[in-house]
Amino acid sequence: MSKRALITGITGQDGMYLAELLLREGYEVFGLVRGQNNPKLPVLAAELPDVKILTGDLMDLSSLMRALAASQPDEVYNLGAISFVAYSWENAAVTSEVTGLGVLNMLEATRLHAGSDIGRVRFYQASSSEMFGKVQDVPQRESTLLWPRSPYGVAKVYGHYMTINYRESYGMHASSGILFNHESPRRGPEFVTRKISQAVARISLGVQDSLSLGNLDARRDWGYAGDYVRAMWLMLQQDDADDYVISTGETHSIREFLDLAFARVGIDDWSEKVRVDPAFFRPAEVDLLIGDPAKAREVLGWTPTVGFPELVARMVDHDVAEQEALLGRSA
Ligand code: GDD
Repeated sequence: MSKRALITGITGQDGMYLAELLLREGYEVFGLVRGQNNPKLPVLAAELPDVKILTGDLMDLSSLMRALAASQPDEVYNLGAISFVAYSWENAAVTSEVTGLGVLNMLEATRLHAGSDIGRVRFYQASSSEMFGKVQDVPQRESTLLWPRSPYGVAKVYGHYMTINYRESYGMHASSGILFNHESPRRGPEFVTRKISQAVARISLGVQDSLSLGNLDARRDWGYAGDYVRAMWLMLQQDDADDYVISTGETHSIREFLDLAFARVGIDDWSEKVRVDPAFFRPAEVDLLIGDPAKAREVLGWTPTVGFPELVARMVDHDVAEQEALLGRSA
């Protein structure tokens, strides 16, 4: 009989890549979708028609219990969250609830569902490199002291430790992936990489003049989302649950991303095209992220396959093609 997986956050970038991977691996995949008339649902249904949709909300324990009863999963992937860091200062309470307490609800629903046979359902929590915030080690590892710098980061720390707590208290097979930034053509347009790739595409086609950004000096360890969902899956295939840093081990600034993105469309000097707008600066910044993925490499056999230049090229090429299609031009 094929394995079954339940994914929260199925309509997000990672949910879609993970669902594709699990379907390829022969799983029956269930996705939890929130809200009435969710605008992302038609995209999901068109791109991944084999995913079975269940409705529920991380804030509603009984809806999670019903989703678990309906899907009878072998594996639960908790990817659902409010995930935009900048938003979290203005909406700190709701971010804490969904991104923090939502993890507790999902863990508790899974524990109650599994009953006395706690090991029969494996659990993945989407932890984040934002938990390292004001970094206390370079590079950051599983053992690095957490020092979050945003309400989002604080909420992720809560979920991370609660996952460890369920593992230690109840013997749940609950793993936590500390994923560094991971991008793709499916990335939401509010995040800096996609904001840049979409704007560069439009600027190259002459339909936009310039792009407004915040701090160009922040550095991130950017990988490809398709690679990172494989790491999630590998974690749940291990005999023992654990925590893993998932990263490339390289760091680049927003400026470097801009260099490669503009060069991809033949623009070498972008200084006139980019405006720095204080509105996009954050009350507290995470200046430098660079992860050490040694444990994931050694234990999971995981390595990233898409490097930084290739990632930027894929995103820009995708957005040029998408914008051309929107404008009715041929590629
Ligand atoms: N979004 C955005 N928009 N970021 C900007 C901009 C802008 O106009 N200008 C500069 N930045 C800088 C931000 O200040 C930050 O330092 C960096 O670009 C990356 O911002 P995001 O792409 O929004 O991602 P993030 O690093 O804050 O968070 C992402 O990665 C985390 C993993 O570390 C999100 O995906 C989180 O959900 C995830 O946990």
